[in-house]
Amino acid sequence: MRMKIVGLIGSLRAGSLTRQIMETLPELAPDGMEITMAQIDHLPFYNEDLKADGTPEDPRRLADAIAAADGLIVGSPEYNRSTPAVIKNAIDWVSKEPDRPLSGKPTLIATQSPGALGGILSNYHLRQVLSVTGAELITGPEIAIIRSGEKVETGKIVDADTRDFLAGQLERLAEAIRRKG
Ligand code: FNR
Repeated sequence: MRMKIVGLIGSLRAGSLTRQIMETLPELAPDGMEITMAQIDHLPFYNEDLKADGTPEDPRRLADAIAAADGLIVGSPEYNRSTPAVIKNAIDWVSKEPDRPLSGKPTLIATQSPGALGGILSNYHLRQVLSVTGAELITGPEIAIIRSGEKVETGKIVDADTRDFLAGQLERLAEAIRRKG
């Protein structure tokens, strides 16, 4: 079964550890799963006034990409024990679209930190926010990658245990999508 997955990355910097982890996922994905990162850095801050003539093009394009996808992966660091504004903003835009692209969407949350807690509080804030949107969150062992700086090298995850763990989590996402038919 072919599956299209959209990835959202909650860090904008070029050397982002989150981006390096997210960009390793396609090579860890089960057969048939295609993962494409969506661009969220150009979205304006959510403002109802900007929707006076309909949703602006950039947020609507993101909503369309998510609507057309079979699943979603939200990858993020942790800022001040929460979720960075850039990812919350993207979710806020999509959540207010009338076709509710997030509703029922199998969704995997992945956080990372160079520190010892793996961004677990960001992970749980994302879980809280996304649960309101109706996204079908993949539960079970959280993906909260600790000491991420030691697990990534030149743009890829090199740590074998982390790679195996993520491959298993992508399989669980695939199972959730298959169950939906
Ligand atoms: C951080 N960082 C951080 N790390 C953490 O584990 N818990 C936290 O609460 C915070 N808070 C925080 C706030 C702000 C404003 C910044 C810029 C950073 C450190 C953060 O985990 C580290 O910079 C990561 O490398 C950021 O992820 P990317 O950009 O590498 O993907």
